[in-house]
Amino acid sequence: MHNPVRKAVFPVGGLGTRFLPATKVIPKEMLPVVDKPLIQYAVEEAWAAGIEEIIFVTGRGKSSIEDHFDHVWELEDTLKARGKDEQLQEIEKTLPTPGAISYTRQQEPAGLGHAVWCARNLVGNEPFAVLLADDLVQSERPCLAQMLDVYKELGGNIVAAEDVPRDQTDKYGILDVSEDDGRIASAKGLVEKPDPAVAPSTLSIIGRYILQPEVFTELDRQETGAGGEIQLTDAMARTIGAVPFHGLRFEGTRFDCGSKTGFLAANIAFGLEREELAADLRQILNHYSVGSVSGA
Ligand code: UTP
Repeated sequence: MHNPVRKAVFPVGGLGTRFLPATKVIPKEMLPVVDKPLIQYAVEEAWAAGIEEIIFVTGRGKSSIEDHFDHVWELEDTLKARGKDEQLQEIEKTLPTPGAISYTRQQEPAGLGHAVWCARNLVGNEPFAVLLADDLVQSERPCLAQMLDVYKELGGNIVAAEDVPRDQTDKYGILDVSEDDGRIASAKGLVEKPDPAVAPSTLSIIGRYILQPEVFTELDRQETGAGGEIQLTDAMARTIGAVPFHGLRFEGTRFDCGSKTGFLAANIAFGLEREELAADLRQILNHYSVGSVSGA
């Protein structure tokens, strides 16, 4: 029996420079895909997987995230008075159980590893999940729930993984695989953003992790890695040997909403999933693909 995963950390302290000027005053994690902020997709995924406590690692200018997961009394009263029950239900979905959400602040964006380290006192000595809201996964069973299924069997550290083209390994954390059954790969190492020529595999880590608290001991060293940032992958890599490490090829499609094309693709894919939008959206897509062919 492996210790249960009850807490999830959401690092939201990054600057989101790829989305400037949109992210000058709006956190990247509050950008909507169709009509829901990225962070809400991630939090709903965690709740659907049975996570009980949410920990946000925020930063300067991120207070709208706190407000989003709270009551907005005037709006709720107005919706009630106008009989807008459906909209009222929609906003009620954002409310956590009182006391089941906490915030800590990363005082400088020193890297993902540093953001996770900032949550060490709130996590304590137990396994925890980390979800990056800018990796949005469209799947039947939520990605974190798939990972927890595997965790129940294997324990240790589990990351969500997917194969990427070899010429893109320098954008990702890459697993050095020792065994691989096509679904679950065990890793003997991890490399952050390796050059395609020397990458140990093409199996990349996406923004979903289940981690044992040992990672905090490594993060305590505050060592910087690629890009001068404190990297989570480096700290995880150093626990391999002491902690089993597996990558799960999850079922579903991941959208890198930290990039503009990934974000636009997510809006199309999640829009097409919505009954009330799908037909109109298809028409628009047809229009533009015809336009590009005839204009070529
Ligand atoms: P990114 O690598 O996408 O960085 O972070 P970023 O700053 O958000 O965006 P760009 O590259 O400047 O456009 C991945 C996730 O890790 C969090 C981000 O908020 C995002 O959810 N993060 C990153 C932190 O919380 N703190 C950091 O120091 C860095």
